[in-house]
Amino acid sequence: MTSCSRAADFTASCITASFRKSKMPLCAGKRHRINDMKAEEIRMSTYRVELIRTVDDSYNIEIGFGLTGQLIADLQSGLAGGIKKFAVVTDSNVKPLYADKIYDRLVEAGYSADIISFEAGEKSKTRQTKEFIEDTMLAKGYRRDCCIIAVGGGVVTDVAGFAAGTYGRGIPFINYATTLLAAADASIGGKTAVDTPLATNLIGLFNQPRKVYIDIAAWKTLPPREIYSGMAETIKHACLADGDFFDYLEKNTERILDIDPEACEYIAKRNCEIKYRVVMKDERESGLREVLNLGHTVGRAIETVSGYRLLHGEAVAIGLVAQARLAKKRGYMSEDEAERVKNLIARAKLPTEIPDYIDRKELVQKLYTDKKVKDGCIRFVLEKGIGDVVCFGDNVYSTPVSEDEAAEIIGEM
Ligand SMILES: NC(=O)c1ccc[n+]([C@@H]2O[C@H](COP(=O)([O-])OP(=O)(O)OC[C@H]3O[C@@H](n4cnc5c(N)ncnc54)[C@H](O)[C@@H]3O)[C@@H](O)[C@H]2O)c1
Ligand SMILES: [Zn+2]
Repeated sequence: MTSCSRAADFTASCITASFRKSKMPLCAGKRHRINDMKAEEIRMSTYRVELIRTVDDSYNIEIGFGLTGQLIADLQSGLAGGIKKFAVVTDSNVKPLYADKIYDRLVEAGYSADIISFEAGEKSKTRQTKEFIEDTMLAKGYRRDCCIIAVGGGVVTDVAGFAAGTYGRGIPFINYATTLLAAADASIGGKTAVDTPLATNLIGLFNQPRKVYIDIAAWKTLPPREIYSGMAETIKHACLADGDFFDYLEKNTERILDIDPEACEYIAKRNCEIKYRVVMKDERESGLREVLNLGHTVGRAIETVSGYRLLHGEAVAIGLVAQARLAKKRGYMSEDEAERVKNLIARAKLPTEIPDYIDRKELVQKLYTDKKVKDGCIRFVLEKGIGDVVCFGDNVYSTPVSEDEAAEIIGEM
């Protein structure tokens, strides 16, 4: 039985106790052992653990150009409370470009800091990398009075945010996002995770950062393919929530790909607004948040089956075309609308077809590892025209799709 002595830890008392299969003597003077008892004779006591909590996880997203100075100023103004010890988690590409500078500025400002860097790429988004971060922090004497600053793209913010959620049962973390994809999606919403050989992002936590910095100046050093990849999540946001934003992307694709500051700032803000609107209403993905999964049923599966030869955004781009085809087939999109989605994706220099090297059968089977799968059924989020998604019922935004229908769409691509 759990003692009541920890009740003070909770908002209100108290504690669970169950006597199932204990060796308590029975009442009425009988001396049966508990194993001799019939099920209905087992005595139980149930105490309710009341944990009604009001948590304010609000945070600011700073969008700008070169935000290291702002980060240090925020820390000095108490962003991380009284914490003086920071683990700067980053990857091998971002370390020399941005994380080293953040580390230097932390040390200059009198903080204790370390850089923990792992090899760049989706292949590092694993339990092993999380373990490496944790073991390094343990070895360097990090206890609970510390904070992780994740500097990098979605891989870094996902794995570092997950590590922060479990290190010392939870320490604060800050996201300093350096890719368009992280700006558009990964750094906002509090989802953190690692991949496993069987599926991406299934092991993780909802864990909100203290603050997010979106450094648009950092996009200048991104390889072009990473910019295109980030555009996929931006196009996804336009497809699911905002037809005018979709028009803007159609008219300004080249400016964005050239990292025009004004256009990039606009898309960074619009991405945040759209994602925020969805996440705010459904922090724990009970319904509405499913809409952010547009294009991800096929996208995630292709990403895994390609052995990560395709970047996340490239895979999502193909997934967006797949859902548009399905939406057209089911009458939710016109031929023209589905074509516009495909054309914008192509203009953003993203793939619109499944590469030849992908085994179609394996891809269809992989769809069953999607987190939306319910009662063994593959499910898709579908676009309704441009800038909206189909609502299939009360707070239900995905619909079952038979294996044959999914295979047919995949076969056509
Ligand atoms: N948590 C979420 O809600 C969420 C949402 C969308 C995507 N994701 C995840 O995000 C990941 C993809 O994000 P990503 O595309 O940012 O991947 P990434 O972190 O792997 O970054 C892409 C590449 O760019 C490099 N890089 C990063 N910033 C750079 C810069 N400024 N200049 C030069 N190189 C730079 C990285 O080293 C890496 O090689 C996936 O793992 C995906 O699952 C998470
Ligand atoms: Zn995504």
